[in-house]
Amino acid sequence: MIKAIEWCGDSIRFIDQTKLPTEEVYLKTCDYTVIADAIRKLKIRGAPLIGIAAAYGAALAAVHFREGNLNSFSQQILRAIDELGSTRPTAVNLFWALERMKKVLHNGTDIEQTRKSIIDEAIRIHKEDEEMCRRIGENGAKLIPQTAAILTHCNTGALATGGEGTAQSVITTAHRQGKSIKVYADETRPLLQGARLTTWELMKHGMDVTLITDNMAAFLMQQKKIDIAITGADRIAANGDVANKIGTYNLALIAKHHGVPFYVAAPTSTIDPSIPSGDKIPIEERHKEEVTQGFGKRTAPEGVNVYSPAFDVTPFNLISAIITDQDVYKPPFNFSKLKK
Ligand code: MRU
Repeated sequence: MIKAIEWCGDSIRFIDQTKLPTEEVYLKTCDYTVIADAIRKLKIRGAPLIGIAAAYGAALAAVHFREGNLNSFSQQILRAIDELGSTRPTAVNLFWALERMKKVLHNGTDIEQTRKSIIDEAIRIHKEDEEMCRRIGENGAKLIPQTAAILTHCNTGALATGGEGTAQSVITTAHRQGKSIKVYADETRPLLQGARLTTWELMKHGMDVTLITDNMAAFLMQQKKIDIAITGADRIAANGDVANKIGTYNLALIAKHHGVPFYVAAPTSTIDPSIPSGDKIPIEERHKEEVTQGFGKRTAPEGVNVYSPAFDVTPFNLISAIITDQDVYKPPFNFSKLKK
């Protein structure tokens, strides 16, 4: 399994996802600002992974700030946490992980102990995510029949998490269990996480994967080529509304129309009980160049107006089930028994 990120004691090693699938480039850094920049530029991406990366970023800051007393040390780490938290607004995992780091910092009694506790907490966040991915895979695979054609959107695999993935873990777990799985991967405009990353990962797993452009999904469902649609999530509101990669809402709508079950798979760290419904979830807007000249070639006239929300919100009533590490939730969604 690909390791998207690794803690190396006093540095972080990560795969630059913008270079995939043509080049497998690993970068190493001791500087938390490099991690913040990598999250902004989607070298590191996927909701759970950006939480893990931000936690490790705070740990890097703790390792490398050497001067002053506990108070100035804490102020410096808090500045690093603020910068890491300003990188992307939608995935709640980022803020969830940084809140955990803040709590550890707050409970610190001296610099050495605090530094160690911060590093330990970041490693724990990573390990917990790996385990949550495993449980999501096990819980979700129970919903997959012996033979299934599954449509997925964006990238939800090892590249997006600390383990085997979320939606993708459901798919690969079902495959490992001997089920006959055919995957259709949405290309995922504009940054092509499906085309560049999901197909690359599933081919490494030796799976049967077919790439389609996003606007083909309805036709495939009309042709009865899809049994199940499954995606990840960047933030799940208390009522079950789901923010995920732009295009997810389209997919949920057409799945409903064609009677195809639409599943969302996510760790419990992606559920944000403080947000009552999806309209309150902050949606990131990306640079217009990602749409007009995404991969180096201009595909729209210079000066054209562009609107590029990176995520959309799928209303809970379009979702057949939300698969988490703790449970499989069915509508009406109620997360009050959730252990966080
Ligand atoms: O902009 P990205 O590539 O970070 O968007 C990622 C997604 O939307 C994923 O579907 C989501 O984070 C779930 S990942 C396990």
